Amino acid sequence: MFLQNRKKMVLLLGATIVTALMTQSFNYTQQQQERKLQNIKVFPSTMTYREVDHAMDQFKAALGVKCNFCHAPDKDNPRRMDMPSDANPMKNVAREMLRMTMEMNEKYMASIKHPESDTTQIQHITCNTCHRGATKPFGQPLVAPGPGGGGQKPAAPAAK
Ligand code: HEC
Ligand code: HEC
Repeated sequence: MFLQNRKKMVLLLGATIVTALMTQSFNYTQQQQERKLQNIKVFPSTMTYREVDHAMDQFKAALGVKCNFCHAPDKDNPRRMDMPSDANPMKNVAREMLRMTMEMNEKYMASIKHPESDTTQIQHITCNTCHRGATKPFGQPLVAPGPGGGGQKPAAPAAK
């Protein structure tokens, strides 16, 4: 009789733990989905957390860096990053770059006419248009700006 009860107790306890774990992981996914953006100054206010996160992957790849290139460590736990913090000055450099990129698309790219029959994808300027995996794109002017000025020489025409 006692043993029977004990078995029941163990089963009950087990079930309670499993339920608790399930509720916890459910709450966790809900939190992930409803995560709020805290310090967005340049991206459109309609962007969701997920969309910003996706854009971040593109920043990272375009510049060939890790998240900590622009984001500061968490004050309480230096092994984690504090994404909303502006303590890393590189984040504001990136904001200016983002403003510039958005303006180039809105002001200049948008005016390029594409015939309706043109099925080629309309291109937008992205970080990668310039950066190509480098923090400072190696953009030497092809032709020297003035007499004796620096810059890369255009390739010499092939000899016949
Ligand atoms: C080139 C710089 C740069 C890199 C690299 C970068 N970020 Fe960001 N991140 C920013 C900027 C700038 C903002 C703010 C954008 C704005 O104000 O509109 C931001 C905002 C965010 C936010 C929103 C924080 C909030 O709640 O306000 C998250 C989350 C984030 N970044 C995550 C990441 C992750 C994860 C990575 C790595 C995969 C990453 N970032 C890499 C520049 C960067
Ligand atoms: C029109 C070309 C162009 C575009 C588009 C562009 N950048 Fe840049 N970016 C540059 C150049 C050139 C530099 C180097 C400036 C210098 O020498 O200090 C630079 C520098 C930076 C730096 C500073 C790097 C350092 O080591 O100091 C960051 C951060 C940056 N860009 C982020 C971005 C992000 C994020 C985007 C997209 C939202 C972007 N850039 C789009 C041309 C561009």
